[in-house]
Amino acid sequence: MSDKVTVKKILKMKSEGKKIVMITAYDTPFARLVDQAGVDIILVGDSMSMVMLGMENTLGISLREMLVHTQAVAKAKPRALIVGDMPFMSYELGEKVAMRSAGLFAKHGAEAVKLEGGEEMVDIIKSIVKLGVPVMGHVGMTPQRFLKLGGYRLVGKKEFEAEQVIRDALAVREAGVFSVVLELVHPDVAKKITEKLDIPTICIGSGPHCDGQVLVLHDVLGLTPNPPPFAKKYVDLPSIVVDAIKRFADEVRQGVFPSQ
Ligand code: KIV
Repeated sequence: MSDKVTVKKILKMKSEGKKIVMITAYDTPFARLVDQAGVDIILVGDSMSMVMLGMENTLGISLREMLVHTQAVAKAKPRALIVGDMPFMSYELGEKVAMRSAGLFAKHGAEAVKLEGGEEMVDIIKSIVKLGVPVMGHVGMTPQRFLKLGGYRLVGKKEFEAEQVIRDALAVREAGVFSVVLELVHPDVAKKITEKLDIPTICIGSGPHCDGQVLVLHDVLGLTPNPPPFAKKYVDLPSIVVDAIKRFADEVRQGVFPSQ
């Protein structure tokens, strides 16, 4: 499809000043729907662990689970770029492990991978890029390191933290990422990074001064009981679903469905 969103197109969107829209999806039907809505990037996020699999955090999801769901998203053949999120322990242990995991994502239909971390990830990112798989960075509040960070909190209020996030963003860019997620980064710092980088910043909970925005699909649809404060619910899907199932149940009980 000539219309297909590629890494090259994402980079061009920054130079053209076009905002990039990224959203998560974890299965074929929702990948079709978000693609119909015209998003630029579908992230098969490790947030799936929490919003789909009932886990407390993102540490528990396996590479195998991420690959199965990446393949399901790829089956939708979306126009949007498919980014597979590398789960905890699938890349940090060394370049060979990281290359193998990234290669498996590509084999399962990912057109790029995302991994968390800054300066400490430079060699890992370089090795994956050398393998031929584009990498999206993720700095600021990195949920896979929530234990070390002491929870999910805004990063960059204090000067030393702001300087570290900027160093991290510049380091992953130098290593070869084509874009970088800034999560829960102080908006002034996110603005500074966006101005400094020649690749797009895609933000979540980091204010409006970014090249793009990402949200978790289940937050947008109202499916998460305790969404983060920066998320925006655009529809109350649970009430629509419950209403439909109630009508089905009523019709079965009244003998209306199925009809002759
Ligand atoms: O897993 C995910 O959904 C993410 C986004 C929050 C960026 O990493």
